[in-house]
Amino acid sequence: MPTYNLTVNGIPQSVEVAEDTPLLWVLRDHLNLVGTKFGCGIAQCGACTVHMDGNAVRSCSLPISLLDGKEITTIEGLSDNGDHPVQLAWKEMDVPQCGYCQAGQIMTATAFLNKNPSPDEAEIKSAMHGNICRCAAYVRIHKAVALAASKIG
Ligand code: FES
Ligand code: FES
Repeated sequence: MPTYNLTVNGIPQSVEVAEDTPLLWVLRDHLNLVGTKFGCGIAQCGACTVHMDGNAVRSCSLPISLLDGKEITTIEGLSDNGDHPVQLAWKEMDVPQCGYCQAGQIMTATAFLNKNPSPDEAEIKSAMHGNICRCAAYVRIHKAVALAASKIG
């Protein structure tokens, strides 16, 4: 099997896997980074969202063959102590219900706020609309993104 080199949460990693192995499998099964969740497996729910070179991507649908040399950030790498402004806003708004979708929600929100630190309500809704929450915590999710923006922007 081929070997692929990528940087995950600032650490260079070398993985030997089949070329069509999705990044989500590499993260969870090979690197033991299980904060990123499997939801639909077909790029529809956003549970598996991570950053690739700073952009939010769906790791369930990205084969490792496209990732050689890329910089990946997962929820584990967002901050050392869970104190990224988005994570703090999430805590302040008490966002999660079951929590399953939340890593993906936070990764989408952080990539979005990095590009647009002062969004309006419509921009927040539009940025977050592809991340499904089976507990329907959408109102708190949107409020937390706005709160984080007020602290970052
Ligand atoms: S698990 Fe990747 S988008 Fe649903
Ligand atoms: S908090 Fe349960 S799926 Fe979103």
